[in-house]
Amino acid sequence: MSEWVLLLGGSTGHGAATAKRLAKDGYGIIAFHFDRGEAKKIAEETIAEVNEITGGRCHYFNTNAAAEETMDKFLPQIKEITGGERVKLLLHSIAFGTTTNFFGEKPVTQRQMDMTVHVMGNALLYWTQKLFAEKLLGQGSRVMGLTSEGNYLAMEGYGPVSVAKVAMEAIIRQIGWELGQFGITANAVQAGVTPTRALTKITDRWEDWVEGTKARNPMRRTTTPEDVAGTISMLLKPEADFINCSIIYCDGGEHRSGSI
Ligand SMILES: NC(=O)c1ccc[n+]([C@@H]2O[C@H](COP(=O)([O-])OP(=O)(O)OC[C@H]3O[C@@H](n4cnc5c(N)ncnc54)[C@H](O)[C@@H]3O)[C@@H](O)[C@H]2O)c1
Repeated sequence: MSEWVLLLGGSTGHGAATAKRLAKDGYGIIAFHFDRGEAKKIAEETIAEVNEITGGRCHYFNTNAAAEETMDKFLPQIKEITGGERVKLLLHSIAFGTTTNFFGEKPVTQRQMDMTVHVMGNALLYWTQKLFAEKLLGQGSRVMGLTSEGNYLAMEGYGPVSVAKVAMEAIIRQIGWELGQFGITANAVQAGVTPTRALTKITDRWEDWVEGTKARNPMRRTTTPEDVAGTISMLLKPEADFINCSIIYCDGGEHRSGSI
């Protein structure tokens, strides 16, 4: 297979598992990540693994993928990598935002809100616009983003990200509605609570969240990045060509289960 996928946030968590899974499926991997310190070491391990699976058909860029300059700078390179062919998938799997409440000791600021909604929501739209203009999205391409239960529940420290998720879902819905006529679909995958680096940053009580989730999830466990990667892999099959403007739940039924 000569097809390529473009992952925004492909070094840890859901994005890393998806990179490995899609590499095994035969796709070439183009991915952005933004890692320093300890996270950079984990990223290097992911990159080495993906590089090995793909036999070198793998390009990782450690830079802020939400910046317009990054999009403009790397688009020609992406085009060169794919040989001008459209990418099969544009996935948004970036976790980068302010996790604080709206009120209390550290009320969220306008700057923090704007940044969070841009990086975790709007940035997907600008990538999609630019890729589409360059014909790097076309018949059979998928646009996907990861959402969470925080899109309709209020949670400790999750307010700004929650707003970004709602924005992203609306963006995905609209992309699918406008680009469906070109055979391009857009969907959100709603993952259940997954113990990743991002989860540990939402609240100090994340371990309680994990235990609470195990108790209330119908399948009595938390979601794994591999669960999500498998769902995304499935959604790339031709059989999923007609799934558009939708939210696909990958959470063992967690979203149907109230707290026990
Ligand atoms: N962990 C959960 O419980 C959960 C549940 C539902 C949805 N999600 C969503 O899944 C997505 C991925 O989160 P995760 O849990 O895998 O977290 P993670 O911290 O493991 O991964 C985040 C990724 O984003 C990258 N990144 C951060 N800022 C970036 C930037 N500016 N430019 C480029 N890359 C950047 C990191 O390098 C990393 O690859 C997020 O959108 C998150 O909201 C997570």
